[in-house]
Amino acid sequence: MHQYIDQLENYVDKDITLKGWVSNMRTSKTNIFIVFRDGTGFVQAVVSLDQVGQEQFELAKRLTQESSIAIRGKIIRDERQMGGYEIQVHNLQLIQLSEEYPISNKEHGVRFLADQRHLWLRSRRQWAIMRIRNEIIMGIHEFFQGEGFVQMDSPLFTGNAAEGSTTLFETDFFGEKAYLAQTGQLYGEAMAMAQGKIYTFGPTFRAEKSDTPRHLAEFWMIEPEMAFFDNDDNMDLIERFVKHVIARIVHRCKTQLELLGRDITGLENVQQAFPRVSYTEAVKILRGEKDVNGRNAIAVQEEDLAVANALITAHKEDIAQRESAIKAGMKKGERRYNESKILQLRKEIAHAEEQCRNIPKWIQSAKNFKDGEDFGASDETVLTRVFDAPVMVYNWPSAIKAFYMKEVEGDPNFVKGVDLLAPDGYGEIVGGSERETDIDVLQRKIKEHHLPMEDFDWYLDLRRYGSVPHAGFGLGLERLVRWACGINHLRETIPFPRRYGRLYP
Ligand code: 4AD
Ligand code: MG
Repeated sequence: MHQYIDQLENYVDKDITLKGWVSNMRTSKTNIFIVFRDGTGFVQAVVSLDQVGQEQFELAKRLTQESSIAIRGKIIRDERQMGGYEIQVHNLQLIQLSEEYPISNKEHGVRFLADQRHLWLRSRRQWAIMRIRNEIIMGIHEFFQGEGFVQMDSPLFTGNAAEGSTTLFETDFFGEKAYLAQTGQLYGEAMAMAQGKIYTFGPTFRAEKSDTPRHLAEFWMIEPEMAFFDNDDNMDLIERFVKHVIARIVHRCKTQLELLGRDITGLENVQQAFPRVSYTEAVKILRGEKDVNGRNAIAVQEEDLAVANALITAHKEDIAQRESAIKAGMKKGERRYNESKILQLRKEIAHAEEQCRNIPKWIQSAKNFKDGEDFGASDETVLTRVFDAPVMVYNWPSAIKAFYMKEVEGDPNFVKGVDLLAPDGYGEIVGGSERETDIDVLQRKIKEHHLPMEDFDWYLDLRRYGSVPHAGFGLGLERLVRWACGINHLRETIPFPRRYGRLYP
């Protein structure tokens, strides 16, 4: 029997066998240090000549990155080591000697890595992200099951366009025109009338022909739907739900979050109350016409810009000083330290320079925002910057939202929709609403959206037979993973991303 790295705490000072891969290695005369991974984690394996003998030591020397091996050795607790343990190997078996591995430890371009996605998944950062994704999925089920929801699945082939006709993938269903589902919601509404509170959790498809960091063509969505909920109940649920899932990963994914360099203060702030602002208020805040807790959105951007400029100047001076000190001569270790520090400073400068290019554009866009339009990515960044926790924006202009959202009583220009915007530029992660129950209004809206009435006949039945107030929302799994992990692009949040221009591997 072999054991796993994530169980090492049970085997301190004991001999065990681990099976896995060589992630990285370095060799000295009498020792070979292997960064060994087995899927559950990473550990340093020390192969020393006096422990394994000449023959196995030679074998170890020939190992290549990603060779598969079985090792037997003693587990030592060592705080200084990655993960807190080390294995001192006394037996090594080769399973397969890997050919030269295309992904090395130097930096690669994103295109190259995307082409190597089937291998890239093995690298430490990707490993951490997938572990967090898994923990989020567990947290989602735990939350909804705990609240008495029933998980039900909606079809992926559908005749209904629910989220606008511009992002439909059309397909042939035995000679009939069908679409890949953009949402499971309409079916979710039918299921909620049967079970009270349900959630769907499945893949959804949108032909987003834009290459942005926050759009995939295939993504996973969690869509709860609740009978007898209004939009306030809906917002309460969204808040409890997001708090639950984030608390779970902050608690259970410390190693992975640390590995990603995720600053978790932002995630801890999620336990505060989520501010709720109407769309109309949000527009005023965005344009800088209304302050929040003494903070003005435009002024905050101007401050951020000044901070970025100051950082660039200070870092450049710092780099110049380190460079001249290196030139003047220093010990090897000290030089290495300074060189890696310089690299780090350069990265931070590049980031600040990007901010200096972006912020003036964001400010312009925010100041000139036209009431009634949808928020763009930069508007969401500017708006959320004045809040500490995620923000809920409710009561949206009807014209920019889906046909099924319930009109605000007495003000048909607005609907009872809600978007949850994550802070720090991560933007929309949830979209939801109370649903229209008036069959006449629904029929009018279906016409206004140029949708074929006959395809929605079954949906209208839900308003004919025991119609009740109800609400629900959709959370994009990858958007949540992106925010939780603090990473820029959705391509790293799903094992094999499908997006515009990317079908391989
Ligand atoms: O706001 P959306 O379009 O809402 C719906 O689909 C509703 N039917 C949900 C409901 O009320 N049951 O999408 C919901 C969420 C977004 O907030 C976003 O997190 C995610 O789905 N999303 C995407 N994620 C990745 N790539 C895309 N192209 C996405 N489009 C939406
Ligand atoms: Mg939306």
